[in-house]
Amino acid sequence: MSKLIIANWKMNGSIEQIEHDLSIYAKSVYTNNPSVVLAIPNIYLYLAAQIQNKLGAKFSLAAQDVSKFRNYGAYTGEISASMLKELGAKYFIIGHSERRTYLNETEDSLVHKIDNTLNEEIIPVFCIGESKSIRESVEYRDFLENQLKTLLKVKSSFDKLVIAYEPIWAIGTGIVPTSEQISEVLKLIKAFVQNYLPHAKITALYGGSVSGGNASEILNLPEVDGVLVGGASLKPGDFVSICTY
Ligand code: 13P
Repeated sequence: MSKLIIANWKMNGSIEQIEHDLSIYAKSVYTNNPSVVLAIPNIYLYLAAQIQNKLGAKFSLAAQDVSKFRNYGAYTGEISASMLKELGAKYFIIGHSERRTYLNETEDSLVHKIDNTLNEEIIPVFCIGESKSIRESVEYRDFLENQLKTLLKVKSSFDKLVIAYEPIWAIGTGIVPTSEQISEVLKLIKAFVQNYLPHAKITALYGGSVSGGNASEILNLPEVDGVLVGGASLKPGDFVSICTY
């Protein structure tokens, strides 16, 4: 089975870049694949879905956020899960450390957002990760397990679950954990799911400074089912080379 490779563009891109990069991804055998997922800014999903239809491309689309409110209503500025589904989102990124830090994402809002998207059959990509100071303490495993416990509060049923381990100290820093460190946390995630959510089929990802140079080593670790790529996903040459792992 192909590994899941998610490009997280964060707050980057433009109409021109979407048109340019997606036409490259539609042509490459490495990226024209449903397990290659493009998490572009939500505002561009409609355009991306149109390009995808026009080119008959098979990659998947993901949203970067969703409203914690259900369906429709008087919530100025919000975008609901049902709207994202209409735009073609198959996955959505939730719990990213940037949103936890800068947007005050609370556990309550994480749970509502996950419930809303599961109701629309959009698969959450739930991110966890510790800061440098927590990693240097003895308690980083407890911290990560506590973050995973958010999933136990989700009410909707699900059979597929994507969890990404993104240590904050590796995001955008060029520092990548050792293979042992990555494997250790991905094993912890899989053991947690087996213990508390045994009905769910888990896909465990690593994210943080993934590049064309290190993707193959990371993606060939047996515990790693895929990667979540930030900066390197903004350069199509680098992203295609990650997808050739
Ligand atoms: P970088 O690949 O830029 O380190 O970002 C990782 C990330 O945050 C993906 O969600």
